[in-house]
Amino acid sequence: MRQHFSYPGKDNCQMASGQLSRAEALECSRCRHACHVMLYCDTKSQLFGRFPIRHIILMQMRFDGLLGFPGGLVNPSEETLEAGLSRELLEELGVAVPISVEDHVDSRFAPASSPSRSSRLILHFYVKKMEEEQIREVERAAVSTATDYGQEVLGTVRVPLYTMKAGGGLAPFLSHSFIGSARSQLVDSLLRFNLVTPEDLHKALAHSLKIHTQNAEDLHGALALTEARKRF
Ligand code: APR
Ligand code: MG
Repeated sequence: MRQHFSYPGKDNCQMASGQLSRAEALECSRCRHACHVMLYCDTKSQLFGRFPIRHIILMQMRFDGLLGFPGGLVNPSEETLEAGLSRELLEELGVAVPISVEDHVDSRFAPASSPSRSSRLILHFYVKKMEEEQIREVERAAVSTATDYGQEVLGTVRVPLYTMKAGGGLAPFLSHSFIGSARSQLVDSLLRFNLVTPEDLHKALAHSLKIHTQNAEDLHGALALTEARKRF
């Protein structure tokens, strides 16, 4: 880890992996900062009384049709990263879940979308383990009191971690479209917190790639339907 952070994008301000420490990231006052969190709990419940659910992990369907983690843009000159994240959680989930520095997992630059370095976005990622009843309370609040429900958030979803006989579960979930690096953040967290074995995750991802190919064929079929309609 380097001691000094001087300007976003300079080689000497990033760890070899492209990660930044939380402190390094905060030294960039000209950067924009976004904080997102994976909230999860253990559970003994089973699907159809057969498939252990093991962990409830919350993600959301965003306004842009992509899956992502709750959270959003934070202004470190007005609030701490963690207080800003709690504020975003209140808007998106209806509960200001307290987030602490200990929940921080990773900070890194978002892939540059603009040539302007001064507005580069730094993504801060957190993971927080909760009790099952707290997670269920968040799910209830997300549809009843969250101001963003139906607007910026189209729905809270759970990540299915099991694999059913016909392949349903984690693999199809991972084959959906995610915002930015949310899929990598999910995969990394599943490994980091031992929520899925590396072997099962590898199998699921390999199956996801096959599903991805089938999805492309499906999309071609749907496209053909609209082409046929266009003639009328
Ligand atoms: N990986 C990479 N980038 C991400 C991720 C992720 N997992 N999650 C979100 N982003 C990006 C988004 O593309 C966006 O540019 O981080 C930025 C902020 O995150 P959001 O959760 O989208 O921000 P929020 O504060 O909730 O605001 C919602 O309002 O002003 C608009 O377009 C703006 O996307 C923003 C939206
Ligand atoms: Mg958001």
